[in-house]
Amino acid sequence: MKIISVVGARPNFMKVAPIHRAIKKYNSDHSNLTTQISHLICHTGQHYDEKMSKVFFEDLELPKPDYYLGVGSGSHAEQTAKVMVEFEKVLLYEKPDLVLVVGDVNSTIACSLTAKKLHIKIIHVEAGLRSFDMEMPEEINRILTDRISDYLFVTEKSGIENLKNEGIPDENVFFVGHVMIDSAKYYLPKTEKSIIHNDLGIDKGEFVLVTLHRPSNVDNKSSLKKLIHFLNTIGEKRKVVFPIHPRTKNNLSKFGINELLNENVILSEPIGYIDFQALIKNAELIITDSGGIQEESTFYGVQCITLRNSTERPITCEIGTNQLLGTDLEKAEKTALDVLGGNLKEGSIPDKWDGNAAERIVTIIMEKCSL
Ligand code: UD1
Repeated sequence: MKIISVVGARPNFMKVAPIHRAIKKYNSDHSNLTTQISHLICHTGQHYDEKMSKVFFEDLELPKPDYYLGVGSGSHAEQTAKVMVEFEKVLLYEKPDLVLVVGDVNSTIACSLTAKKLHIKIIHVEAGLRSFDMEMPEEINRILTDRISDYLFVTEKSGIENLKNEGIPDENVFFVGHVMIDSAKYYLPKTEKSIIHNDLGIDKGEFVLVTLHRPSNVDNKSSLKKLIHFLNTIGEKRKVVFPIHPRTKNNLSKFGINELLNENVILSEPIGYIDFQALIKNAELIITDSGGIQEESTFYGVQCITLRNSTERPITCEIGTNQLLGTDLEKAEKTALDVLGGNLKEGSIPDKWDGNAAERIVTIIMEKCSL
């Protein structure tokens, strides 16, 4: 059986790494059988900066990709179309039995669509999540990818409901837990040895970690300016660490508002996987608009404020440590100061976020996806 897994952007790498490891384990456990899995990795190049891509391959012990498509940045249409044109060549040459995609980035939908038109079956890992906000490019990618996928692996129970409501047959849907949490657990010993806090001059448990990169927050001058003022206010109470995404960095310079950030806000380049896990684990509070960080903070039991109007990961608010506060920064400031004053949201770890999702996926692939 030949499977091609697709990675494109930063949030994909830590999801494919445990699947690659689980496939290697399957092959060594079944070395006497004729059915072995040949696993190829195709990197579309949607993210290409060393700090957005290469460092993750090193941290996550991923092999060099078998294919690198080098598509780079562009408009949504350009990026999606370039991935499709290049990925089609790979599929025609390799003729895989299955294409495995993760998450909701442009590479996810581009590769799914390309495979489907060639009648190659699609596995979607992290299926079923819905923000119900069609202005998010990721929501469009999620809905369309799920609609054409053959095997849908779900991280939380809301995903099962969403897929049922959209008419996806139950027998194609599998609740397996979360491969991203497999990575968080697997690398915990390394995360605990990270010395990133020394490098940044902060103390464990006494800083606020910030990530902001959603177009709805950072592509508009006035909302980005308001966010900077908000961070400066939080910076009066605790040191703020702000590893900055290229989109946000570009916009700060484009709008000429770089200098508004005060000295309590420590700006850094994007940070590699292990060091970033250490920052999440050791933060007193996280302020974010990311999807995955909502889940990682729930896993580590760290307080999280999400500056978005909707979340496709409701379990993180229902039982985790996440609070969804929209873009009302007054409310966010009050909640942040409350948390820093000791008013904490209790949380627990969602069902099946136990580090074994990738092994479940590989077992199901070998049982169900028979050719
Ligand atoms: C993408 C995903 C988003 C995910 C995010 C994580 C889509 C639609 N969005 O958003 O879901 O949360 O990745 O980071 O797929 N850039 C660089 N270097 C890079 C990559 C990007 O400088 O290595 C800059 C370019 O100016 C580019 C911009 O960042 O135009 C945005 O990159 P893009 O991949 O289009 O989207 P993200 O905002 O990163």
